[in-house]
Parts: sequence; structure tokens; C-alpha cells
Amino acid sequence: MSDESSGTRNTLSIRDNRTGKEYEVEVLDGDVIRAMDLRQIKVDDGDFGMMSYDPAFGNTAFTRSSVTFIDGAKGILEYRGYPIEQLAEQSSFLEVAYLILKGELPTQTELDQFVHDVTYHTYVHENMTDLLDAFRYDAHSMGRMISSIAALSTFYPEAKDVDDPANRWIQINRLVAKMPTLAAFAYRHHRGLPLVYPENELSYTANFLNMLFRIGVKEYKPNPVLERALDVLFILHADHEQNCSATTMRVIGSAQADPFSAMAGAMAALYGPLHGGANEAVLRMLHRIGDVKNVPQFIDGVKNREERLMGFGHRVYKSYDPRAAIIKRTAEEVFEVTGRNPLLDIALELERIALEEDFFVSRNLYPNVDFYSGLIYQALGFPVEMFPVLFAIPRTVGWLAQWEEMLMDDEQRIARPRQVFTGPSRREFVPVEERG
Ligand code: SDX
Repeated sequence: MSDESSGTRNTLSIRDNRTGKEYEVEVLDGDVIRAMDLRQIKVDDGDFGMMSYDPAFGNTAFTRSSVTFIDGAKGILEYRGYPIEQLAEQSSFLEVAYLILKGELPTQTELDQFVHDVTYHTYVHENMTDLLDAFRYDAHSMGRMISSIAALSTFYPEAKDVDDPANRWIQINRLVAKMPTLAAFAYRHHRGLPLVYPENELSYTANFLNMLFRIGVKEYKPNPVLERALDVLFILHADHEQNCSATTMRVIGSAQADPFSAMAGAMAALYGPLHGGANEAVLRMLHRIGDVKNVPQFIDGVKNREERLMGFGHRVYKSYDPRAAIIKRTAEEVFEVTGRNPLLDIALELERIALEEDFFVSRNLYPNVDFYSGLIYQALGFPVEMFPVLFAIPRTVGWLAQWEEMLMDDEQRIARPRQVFTGPSRREFVPVEERG
């Protein structure tokens, strides 16, 4: 294909110097080539053909997507074209959830219906509460949540019919609705407190706070500043294109597993400290540093590779994560209500140094979404084990949007990467008595 006006060909010319052969491969979407177009490059006709080698998919687009746009160099994040700053300022989590899932902002009628449907799916089968007793009191909440979501799949066998759009939408509503309930139940069981069940007249976030923190009162009224702060945090965590856990959701979903089972896998990926578990790791790091005067010594440890500055760095953002900037502002609003978290001073000093020192600047290490979020969660009264769960609740929306987009993409099929084999060539079995 070429651009007639400028006469340039929209192709890549490849010369294989091993054979002297030349190939032309089409350039798509401005700057990608189909990896399969490399397969024609062979030395001998019997060869398998050329592959691209890309550990951790550092330079591989494995899907087209219209859900989330990130410009890592400019620190831009947009859900379905809407800037994250505007959504955090003007929208609500369920409205953003509808946008991410459906691709357009809802009309008032559509939003009311979605809020109603989510509200009326917040209960879980009572057998799910029996599952809680299978865990030790001090079991990590993410371990509980991963198990609970997988267990929930057994209550909805019809969720396996992933090709039926109406059925997908019901399961999506169920998962968005039930994640806060399961999270609150996990927290209450961890604390040895009686379960508090969903209240339909409360907002999504207020209902979650009610199920978590209502103790000994008929009516729990969350502070509106704190309720709004959590809703903003949910908006900021809703999706982030092809991150590790979204990729996991897509890969499991590509085998046509039901969305509950696929999401258990995505949550397991998010649990990792390099991914969504980083917000918990940040708080543990700040507690370990303990005082601003210990920051220089810790920074030296990072430079000597004895420490990792959790909450810093990103595979895509090579500038300030736009979410971190919003979270930092939200933290100040929360601390006006809850009192200032003393760990904030340590975090601010770490950031001040990291934004100045060449070790960090040369590696494009800036605060990411996890650096300040934990300080807010702690101020809201959450234990650190709940922090990754607070990431998983809103990310449910992103995982499901990516999952459904994968199912509707005619180019997609079961994910099955290739490998470069580096093991031993064929050899004959040796009975144990003959082994040296
Ligand atoms: C999330 O992908 C997403 O979109 C994820 C996410 C989402 O919304 O889904 O944004 C959420 O997971 C945010 C990231 C949370 N993780 C952390 O905060 C953990 C700490 N950060 C890192 O481990 C790291 O920065 C990653 C995992 C986030 C990114 O790793 P990369 O892209 O593989 O980068 P790298 O590990 O190759 O690092 C490049 C260099 C290395 O130095 P050199 O060996 O080249 O000298 O930077 C160094 C690394 O050692 N480095 C760090 C560092 N992060 C990278 N050094 C110290 N502290 C860090 N945090």
C-alpha cells in the first residue's frame, strides 16, 4: 500500500543478508508490522520461518484496543478518549465504569439503569460466607478474593456462554457489583467482625464503606469527602490498557473460560508486588524507612540495588503518572478530614530526591499510581493487606472491558505464543542404574 500523494510506500523493506533475498512487509496503523509477515523470511524452504523475540512483550502489540489510551512520554491517560483529569474531576466511578464498558458516556436513563442493575446484584449466595471460614483469620485479603471470585463462578454456570452478549452483560454487572461485597466480607472476617450486608439506598462507594466500617450503629454515614476520595481513586484505577493483569484476563479469556475464572487469574497477576501489590509494598517501605532522616540511607540502598523504590517507575510512563498527581492532590483533601499521615513527609522527601537525582531521572523513574494511594487508604482506615483489593475492585471494570473486546475481535483466537528453544537436542533415555 502506498501514499500516492507523496509517492512513499507504506512498507518496510527487509534484506536477509544470509540469503540476499529481499522482502516487503506492510506497515499498519502508522508504525507496526504483522509479526506473521516475518514468517516468510527463511534460509531454506523447510525452515519454520522468522519470528520476533520479545521477552515480557516489551515491544509487542498483541491486540488492537479502543478502551484506554496512554502516552507514556507525555503522561497522558484517556478512557475512551476522555482525559483522566476531567473524569476524576467531574464524573463518578459507575459512570466511568459504564463509559469503559460500553464505549460512550451514558445518558441519564442509561446511567440510572446501570446503577440500579449494579445495586441489585450486590448480594452473594449465602454459601459464599461459609467459604470465609475456610481461611485463617489472618489470611491475606487478596488470597481470599482470588479464591472467592473463582468460587463465585460455580454459582453461575451459564457464565460459560461467553458468546452471548446479553449473558456477558449480566455477568459483568454481577462482578462489578459483588467485588465490594466480597472485599468487605473478607475484611470483616479478618477483623473478626460480623458481616454487614449491602444497603441498596447507598451509593456504590458509600455502600462499600458501610459494609466495611459500620460497627454498633444503625446507620453509618461515611464522611462525604472520604466517600468522594475513594470514588476518585476507583476512577483512577479502573483501566490501564494492556498491563500485566489485563493481559492475563485476555489470555485466560481467549480459551473461552468464563469471566469469573478469568478474573481470578487477573487478580492473581495484580497481587504481585511489581504490579497492583505495589501500593501495599510502598506502605511497608515507608514504615521501614520510619523517619525522613533515614531517607538518604534508603536512597543509597536503592542506588546499590539493595532496595527497590516501590511506587516508582513504570513500563509505559517515562514521565509523571497522571494518576499519581491526582492522587497526591486527593491525599491532601483526605488529610484535612483524617489528619495528616506522618508517612507523607517521608514520601514527599523520597519524591523530592528521586526527581532530582540522576539515578532516577536517567531511568525515567517517577511516582506511579501506587506511590501515594496507600497513604490515602491507610488514612481511610484500611490495613495494608486490603490495598491490592482496593485496586482490584475498580480494575474489575477494565479487566471486563478488555475481556469483552477480545471476544468481539475477529482477529483474536486462543493465545499461544512461540518460544526459542534453548534446551538439549534429542538424546536417548538412560535407565537409573546406568546413570553416573
Ligand atoms: C502498576 O502496566 C501498568 O500499566 C501497571 C499499572 C496499572 O495501572 O495497571 O500502572 C499499575 O503496576 C504500577 C507499577 C507498580 N510497581 C511498582 O511500583 C514496583 C516498583 N517499580 C518497578 O519494579 C518497575 O519500575 C516496574 C515493574 C513498574 C517497571 O519495570 P520495567 O519497565 O521492567 O523496568 P525495569 O525493571 O527494566 O527497570 C529499568 C531500570 C532498571 O535499572 P537498570 O538495571 O537498567 O540499571 O530502572 C530500574 C531497574 O533496576 N528500576 C528501579 C525501579 N524501577 C525500575 N530501580 C529502583 N526502584 C524502582 N522502583
